Amino acid sequence: MNKILVTGACGQIGSELVVHLGREFGRENVIATDIEKPSQHLKTASTFMYLNVLDPHMIAKIVVDYEIDAIFHMAAILSARGERDPQAAYEVNMQGLVNVLEVARRKKVDKVITPSSIAAFGPDAPKENTPDNTALNPTTMYGVTKVAGEKMLQYYYLKYGVDTRSLRYPGIISAETAPGGGTTDFAVDLYIHAVTREPYACFISENTPLPFMYMPDAIKAILQLAHAEPGRLSRRVYNVNAMRLTPAEIVASIRKYIPGFRCTYQPDFRQAIADSWPHSIDDRGAREDWGWKPDFDLDAMTRDMLEKIRGKFTIL
Ligand code: SER
Repeated sequence: MNKILVTGACGQIGSELVVHLGREFGRENVIATDIEKPSQHLKTASTFMYLNVLDPHMIAKIVVDYEIDAIFHMAAILSARGERDPQAAYEVNMQGLVNVLEVARRKKVDKVITPSSIAAFGPDAPKENTPDNTALNPTTMYGVTKVAGEKMLQYYYLKYGVDTRSLRYPGIISAETAPGGGTTDFAVDLYIHAVTREPYACFISENTPLPFMYMPDAIKAILQLAHAEPGRLSRRVYNVNAMRLTPAEIVASIRKYIPGFRCTYQPDFRQAIADSWPHSIDDRGAREDWGWKPDFDLDAMTRDMLEKIRGKFTIL
């Protein structure tokens, strides 16, 4: 891994991943791409270019021009937005991935790393400690594209020898770039409203458990997986777990630091999506194969989140 292409670089995970990659591999060796306008931060950390993942020729051109040997494919439409426009979710998530894999195959890119999600599971999977191998019957288009994407990664690995790697992320909580269009976005909203002293109406009911992970752990996980020796990987796609949290538990943690924070619960169509997902996932495979272990628990995350968001809003 020397010359890296990142798609979806302006997104919640992409924007922080690029900063880490830029630090490790050098700004000139990280080609960050998106259809959005990049932040100054992103431009400082990487070489930024406009790229729509639905344009296979542009992907190929960048791969050839910059001698790319690894692709972090992060561009995707998340679950809630995907239910509002399932065709767009199918196109961006499925065709985007196929385009990336095809370029990887034809231009001999060594490695493709792309996230999957807890959304790959559906209501018939075990709710607690959901294993790596179990029923994959998602009820969202986002989940459908994640399951099909996982199968595509496996196919390109077996048939063409592309070193494809993926991890099933839980909901990701972060302070840097707001998530957009996800069912787990409420968790980030809770922190932002607490800091800006605004009451929050949470669109997921208070006792709904979901798996979550703090961004530094999400970045650690994807980089560890990307760097793992090929011989250590017994599968292409790994569950990664960190915390099992309900909205009420996150609110209680925030109130330790901001006692006056007010939150009400007004579940909407996203409740059914949350109800179809696991509460916690079993990540023994990742722990055993490449040493995965999260660093942050709920209160450590809350302290860090509040500090970072305060910094952004310059509230003392
Ligand atoms: N965080 C994502 C979502 O809510 C799940 O992968 O859609």
